[in-house]
Amino acid sequence: MTAQELFDRLKSIQPGAVLCSYTMEYCEKLIPIINEINELKKERNAVILAHSYVAPEIVLGVADYDGDSFKLSQDATKVQADMIIFAAVRFMGETAKILNPTKEVIIPGPLSGCSLADSITAEDVRNLRAKYPGYTVACYINTTADVKAECDVCVTSSNVYKIISNLPNDKIIFVPDRLMGANLQEALEKNGIHKEIVLFSGCCYVHEKYDPELISFFRSQNPNLRVVSHPECHPGVALLSDYVGSTGQMVKYIKDQPEGTPFLLLTECGLNARMHYEFPNKQFIGSCSMCKFMKSNSLENILESLRHPKKAAKVELSADVMARAKHCIDEMFRYAAM
Ligand code: 13P
Ligand code: SF4
Repeated sequence: MTAQELFDRLKSIQPGAVLCSYTMEYCEKLIPIINEINELKKERNAVILAHSYVAPEIVLGVADYDGDSFKLSQDATKVQADMIIFAAVRFMGETAKILNPTKEVIIPGPLSGCSLADSITAEDVRNLRAKYPGYTVACYINTTADVKAECDVCVTSSNVYKIISNLPNDKIIFVPDRLMGANLQEALEKNGIHKEIVLFSGCCYVHEKYDPELISFFRSQNPNLRVVSHPECHPGVALLSDYVGSTGQMVKYIKDQPEGTPFLLLTECGLNARMHYEFPNKQFIGSCSMCKFMKSNSLENILESLRHPKKAAKVELSADVMARAKHCIDEMFRYAAM
């Protein structure tokens, strides 16, 4: 790739709407790193998976697979290469390791947590099970492998509604996202599906900040506005949105709207940046809300992981946890395919 090619693809990202802005000079600085990464990938027989929230130069310049957490977990099962560099957060790397255990999985970002995954422990799940016997325990994919190992089924933001409504048990413990859980309860009730759902106290520090009043304000400025939000946002935000879905589903919704449509995108700003270069003829009124965990991935630390894989942070899990967590993830694939 040349700096001109990179610049041509990134130049439509507008400063002010997102924090990243690309000049030709900046692309000239990035390109030797991108090219070295792409060379080293071949030498090490490695592939790069990247979530849409990481910096655009990672998604555009070096990723072999990109998308939302459900798609990336499916992609992880297909990898033939020896090494997976997962530019995202640790729970996604763990899921890749569980689904493709012979591969070496490396997380390049030093802040590889997630406020949801870090909000709950395996012991919390065991305590909930003891308190609510007979309940099915469903967890969001944003959980550690230890937590998944204690749960019956996991879900992602793209299939939470489908899976929970298809569960044969009407008594469900849903962990850890209380806002996604509240959105789920409202959506089920709206469609006449009655489930007793016990929630936990976790939430995403990026999405919980969005305020319904922000929507009212932007709508008053622009009556044609389409508001697109993530199910980790507050139910008041979901209620006022035109579309609520996973990052991958948001991309599809935006793609299907006519050119010129203005959007207010209520999710991490990496997706906003991505929309700027994928749909330069659509308008995005952005709020920039960044996930420090996702944004701790960089071209530099990906390059470092490929240069010195022995020193990189590898995902290592016990055989017992892997087997039990795999069952929970496999149940998600089974219900999602129904
Ligand atoms: P998606 O599954 O929509 O990509 O969500 C992952 C995530 O971490 C959202 O904050
Ligand atoms: Fe976790 Fe929120 Fe970051 Fe997604 S945006 S990885 S839920 S902290």
